[in-house]
Amino acid sequence: MPKKTKPTLVLGATGKTGSRLVPLLRDRGVPVRAASRGGEVRFDWDDETTWGRALTGVGAVYLVDQQDKPGQWDAETMIERFYARAADLGVTRVVALQARPAGAIGGKDLHAGTDTAERSGLEWTVLRPSWFNQNFDEGVLLDGVRAGELPLPAGDGAEAFVDVADVAAVAAAALTEDGHHGRVYNLSGPAALTFAEAVEVIGHAAGREVRYVPVSQRDYEAELVGAGVPADYATFVGDLVARIDQGTSSAVTFTVEQVTGRAPVAFADFAKEAASRGVWAAA
Ligand SMILES: NC(=O)c1ccc[n+]([C@@H]2O[C@H](COP(=O)([O-])OP(=O)(O)OC[C@H]3O[C@@H](n4cnc5c(N)ncnc54)[C@H](OP(=O)(O)O)[C@@H]3O)[C@@H](O)[C@H]2O)c1
Repeated sequence: MPKKTKPTLVLGATGKTGSRLVPLLRDRGVPVRAASRGGEVRFDWDDETTWGRALTGVGAVYLVDQQDKPGQWDAETMIERFYARAADLGVTRVVALQARPAGAIGGKDLHAGTDTAERSGLEWTVLRPSWFNQNFDEGVLLDGVRAGELPLPAGDGAEAFVDVADVAAVAAAALTEDGHHGRVYNLSGPAALTFAEAVEVIGHAAGREVRYVPVSQRDYEAELVGAGVPADYATFVGDLVARIDQGTSSAVTFTVEQVTGRAPVAFADFAKEAASRGVWAAA
């Protein structure tokens, strides 16, 4: 009898990358535990009693953590505990999602957990994508685009926006194929765009005007706090956006094509498809 493939645990399975990864793995015949607080399988980073059941019997894990929750989440400790538990329960491979900017962002290291992966004794791959295209149509930038104005402290900086379909495709390869152990993959789309360029593409696709308005980091954070966002989270987001002005993730990489064998999604193609769904109709 052929050996049964152990399930893969996909964290953040209701989120932008996880929701695309689950069908890709199932199409490859891999059994999947699609997990999050509200997913098919319950997994809550803040409730460790949910970890054991989610991890038991699993062969590989797609790890989406909570590093974008500064002040509320101690990344180093939590990730360390998660890897230890996973190793104890027989997991052999972890593919972890991080982000490209290095150094302290709002006081947090978005690359935390890399050392833990190296020390874990498991096979590991780290994915560090640029900002997702999908921030514009299902994430933090959607309301601004709908309102026709995007005020951000990104100056004239460019970002090599990447599509979550490409991130998920790289994750699927790293989870199911050989040759990705010990690799850190910086993932980008095929070109870097400033926010002014990105909203022009979106405006063209949506048939309406969308303006990018550069603002100072301080004004931006004050605006967020005024809208009820906790101060530490406002600082985190302000720092993250300001990194775009510094060009931190503007370098185009060729990793998506190298790993998947096909070119990454162009921003204009993403915009055309999203516009065809009517997602950017005026608010
Ligand atoms: N957005 C970007 O441009 C970007 C770029 C590079 C890297 N990243 C990284 O990608 C990761 C995900 O960010 P995202 O904005 O794309 O979010 P997302 O994956 O779209 O949504 C977050 C996911 O995590 C789950 N989740 C939230 N709180 C949880 C908890 N306490 N325990 C377990 N699961 C929880 C959510 O599902 P439930 O609500 O059902 O729990 C959801 O599936 C972050 O680490 C971020 O740094 C994002």
